[in-house]
Amino acid sequence: MGSKAKALVRLTTKHVQPPSSHIHFFCLLCILFLSALFLTLSEAVCNPQDRESLLWFSGNVSSSVSPLNWNLSIDCCSWEGITCDDTPESHVTAVSLPLRGLSGYLSSSLQNLHRLSHLDLSHNLLSGPLPPGFFSALDQLIVLNLSHNSFNGELPFEQAFDDGSSKLFPIQTVDLSSNLLQGEVLNTSIYLLGASSLISFNVSNNSFTGPNPSFMCMSSPQLSRLDFSYNDFAGHISTGLGTCLNLTVLRAGFNNISGEIPVEVYNLSELEQLFLPANQLTGKIDNSITRLKKLTLLELYFNHLEGEIPKDIGHLSNLQSLQLHINNITGTVPLSLANCTKLVKLNLRINRLRGTLTEIEFSRLQSLRILDLGNNSFTGDVPDKVFSCKSLTALRFAGNKLTGQISPQVKELESLTFLAFSDNNLTNITGALRILQGCRKLSTLILAKNFYGETFPSNIDFISSDGFPKLQIFAIGGCRIKGVVPQVHNRLVGSVPGWLGTLPNLFYIDLSENLLTGELPKEFFHLRGLMTQKEETETNYLPLPIFVGSNNITVNQQYNHMYNFPPAIYIRRNNLTGSIPVEIGQLKALQVLELLGNFFSGGIPDELSNLTNLERMDLSNNSLSGRIPPSLRQLHFMSYFNVANNSLEGPIPTGGQFDTFPKACFEGNPLLCGGVLLTSCTAPSREPATTTEDDELKRILVTGIAIGYLFGFISILVVCARQ
Ligand SMILES: *[C@@H]1O[C@H](CO)[C@@H](O)[C@H](O)[C@H]1NC(C)=O
Ligand SMILES: *[C@@H]1O[C@H](CO)[C@@H](O)[C@H](O)[C@H]1NC(C)=O
Ligand SMILES: *[C@@H]1O[C@H](CO)[C@@H](O)[C@H](O)[C@H]1NC(C)=O
Ligand SMILES: *[C@@H]1O[C@H](CO)[C@@H](O)[C@H](O)[C@H]1NC(C)=O
Ligand SMILES: *[C@@H]1O[C@H](CO)[C@@H](O)[C@H](O)[C@H]1NC(C)=O
Ligand SMILES: *[C@@H]1O[C@H](CO)[C@@H](O)[C@H](O)[C@H]1NC(C)=O
Ligand SMILES: *[C@@H]1O[C@H](CO)[C@@H](O)[C@H](O)[C@H]1NC(C)=O
Ligand SMILES: *[C@@H]1O[C@H](CO)[C@@H](O)[C@H](O)[C@H]1NC(C)=O
Ligand SMILES: *[C@@H]1O[C@H](CO)[C@@H](O)[C@H](O)[C@H]1NC(C)=O
Ligand SMILES: *[C@@H]1O[C@H](CO)[C@@H](O)[C@H](O)[C@H]1NC(C)=O
Ligand SMILES: *[C@@H]1O[C@H](CO)[C@@H](O)[C@H](O)[C@H]1NC(C)=O
Ligand SMILES: *[C@@H]1O[C@H](CO)[C@@H](O)[C@H](O)[C@H]1NC(C)=O
Repeated sequence: MGSKAKALVRLTTKHVQPPSSHIHFFCLLCILFLSALFLTLSEAVCNPQDRESLLWFSGNVSSSVSPLNWNLSIDCCSWEGITCDDTPESHVTAVSLPLRGLSGYLSSSLQNLHRLSHLDLSHNLLSGPLPPGFFSALDQLIVLNLSHNSFNGELPFEQAFDDGSSKLFPIQTVDLSSNLLQGEVLNTSIYLLGASSLISFNVSNNSFTGPNPSFMCMSSPQLSRLDFSYNDFAGHISTGLGTCLNLTVLRAGFNNISGEIPVEVYNLSELEQLFLPANQLTGKIDNSITRLKKLTLLELYFNHLEGEIPKDIGHLSNLQSLQLHINNITGTVPLSLANCTKLVKLNLRINRLRGTLTEIEFSRLQSLRILDLGNNSFTGDVPDKVFSCKSLTALRFAGNKLTGQISPQVKELESLTFLAFSDNNLTNITGALRILQGCRKLSTLILAKNFYGETFPSNIDFISSDGFPKLQIFAIGGCRIKGVVPQVHNRLVGSVPGWLGTLPNLFYIDLSENLLTGELPKEFFHLRGLMTQKEETETNYLPLPIFVGSNNITVNQQYNHMYNFPPAIYIRRNNLTGSIPVEIGQLKALQVLELLGNFFSGGIPDELSNLTNLERMDLSNNSLSGRIPPSLRQLHFMSYFNVANNSLEGPIPTGGQFDTFPKACFEGNPLLCGGVLLTSCTAPSREPATTTEDDELKRILVTGIAIGYLFGFISILVVCARQ
């Protein structure tokens, strides 16, 4: 008799009251006995040893959601997540507890569940190593899913059998993805060698090292999904992959894999996803890749691939994502690309592509949402045909040699949020802005390094009252060429356009390196986007990343989200005059203020101390006078402060961040004293320095400025990097 039935009987007898003449009571008793008997005969009753193993397991875990309600008085085959077979022994065959808030360790007692075929503990908080001998003990396992936990340590080493015999395991699905596992995935493991029925093997997003598991194909030729992306695997891609003729998904991106893509890959005619980005792959993409007619995803970005884009790429008519950016690909964009009509994402940024784009029938790409052809050497006019890709949300042509004007057709792109045309040779800024203000969803507009010598429209009426309703990031600064004084950049002439200050969402303005004159317009100080902190909850993804330089190009920041993009005003190196208005104190969200290299005069306003989010303030190379307000000490986040080369006087504040700013940030103000200058503020001012010292000082400063000049403003990373 099963333990449950026994319990029931015991329970029932316990309740038997002293003799009662009541006939109904006997009937009740009969029914209970009968049902107990019935239970024994019909319902599986959990194997006691399995029950014991499960109890050990549950003793090692706890749940943040609700405790595992494994009620001792109920048959364990009816416990949550447990399934038994219908043999007389009622062995546990499945333990399925995904998304259950379980934390704790994986008890080795599970290894006693000899008939276990499905184990799914995915999406929990389990940690610790997998118990030794885990895989070979569970030799009936077909599906193992431990993904999305915090398991760590190495995969348990599986001993070969003493008699040297090999054993086959029926396992079909292994998902260990998104854990903290490390060490090697050994092909010598008796388990992996014996796992000859694998269909899906996923160890992605761990910290595995050593040879990459593309060798798995040799023992498991029916593999359909193989994913070991996001680890530290090395080595070449195994030519053994050629055996896996049913492979549909091969994901090995974000590892250290080197060598060429083996030709065997081009025979995998069932392949739908080839995901190999961010490795060290070399060589060419062979034209025979166009045999893989089922490909929907071809992502090989961030490698060292060279050669041309296969000219028959158009044969891949199912392609939805083609991402080959950051390689060394040469040649032109094949016209056949227009036959990939299902494309959603096309990224060829940072290669060495050239030629014109006007012949490509972009209009056939009606699903295209993201198009990035930036940082190549494309010439000719802006291809107006892209403006008929009605689904576009992001478009980047930055860093090419395109000419012409932005066509009014751009307004037909109703979903467009991101447009970057910087560093080309566009003309007609007035026309461009007049047109673009009608893009209802545009939030990022980067037009730097174009429109040479044109005049920036500054009339406040220039923008209609509902123009640029969503604009948040507006950059029209430049990126200087290394070492030499550039001859051309975005030489916009005119005064600072006040209309910018009327845009309701704008919080990032870059007008650097132009020839703007006049005063800072009052409208700037009412920018709502700079007065109030952005909501941390603003989840707006930037459809393409933006790169912003600090003063060191190797630590350029990449922004993928709108919410952590820094509120900033960059107006460096223009010809602005007048004072810095006290109203600036209202822009409480401001993190970066760069006004260097203008002709600002008057004092540094005390109100700046209200900008408590400020991280970077550069007022150097102006004509500012008076004292540095001691209240600026309150700016606890300020890590960069520069007022060199002004006419400031009096003591440098001490304390707070001021103890960290180097001397160079104050030099060129003969009347400043104290602080890092180490001059006494009470003594009469020193004799002027000798001419040679002065020259020396100037040279250091000039070098300093040149470096700042090179690195210190918004730019698309690579525009700078490739110069
Ligand atoms: C699991 O729980 C048992 C007691 O239920 C305990 O003896 C054992 O140490 C625990 N194992 C781990 C890894 O915590
Ligand atoms: C366990 O099951 C019995 C019988 O179904 C029930 O009376 C008891 O309340 C349950 N205990 C818990 C803790 O749920
Ligand atoms: C593992 O479980 C997760 C959900 O918990 C699921 O998304 C994933 O597809 C499973 N893995 C396999 C290979 O079925
Ligand atoms: C295991 O991998 C190594 C290196 O990749 C390879 O040389 C060896 O032949 C493989 N062994 C088996 C049994 O697949
Ligand atoms: C590939 O799949 C087909 C059908 O699912 C099957 O008949 C064939 O045996 C598989 N090939 C390999 C090498 O596993
Ligand atoms: C691209 O090729 C050039 C010359 O062949 C080489 O100097 C450069 O390092 C390569 N760049 C990358 C990213 O592989
Ligand atoms: C696109 O495909 C059609 C039909 O296969 C073919 O006739 C045409 O030449 C292709 N276009 C290009 C530009 O390759
Ligand atoms: C930009 O285009 C103009 C003609 O439109 C040409 O004169 C000028 O040289 C070009 N500048 C660059 C940097 O290509
Ligand atoms: C500039 O663009 C506007 C709007 O498209 C157009 O009306 C104007 O003629 C253009 N100006 C020049 C000089 O091409
Ligand atoms: C830039 O930063 C990197 C990493 O922090 C550092 O190694 C490098 O020396 C810095 N370069 C300059 C010019 O400051
Ligand atoms: C800007 O200032 C410089 C002097 O620094 C002067 O040479 C230039 O003419 C000025 N440009 C304008 C447009 O005012
Ligand atoms: C700073 O702001 C507060 C209100 O937020 C205001 O009362 C105070 O006057 C301001 N101080 C300065 C120096 O602007």
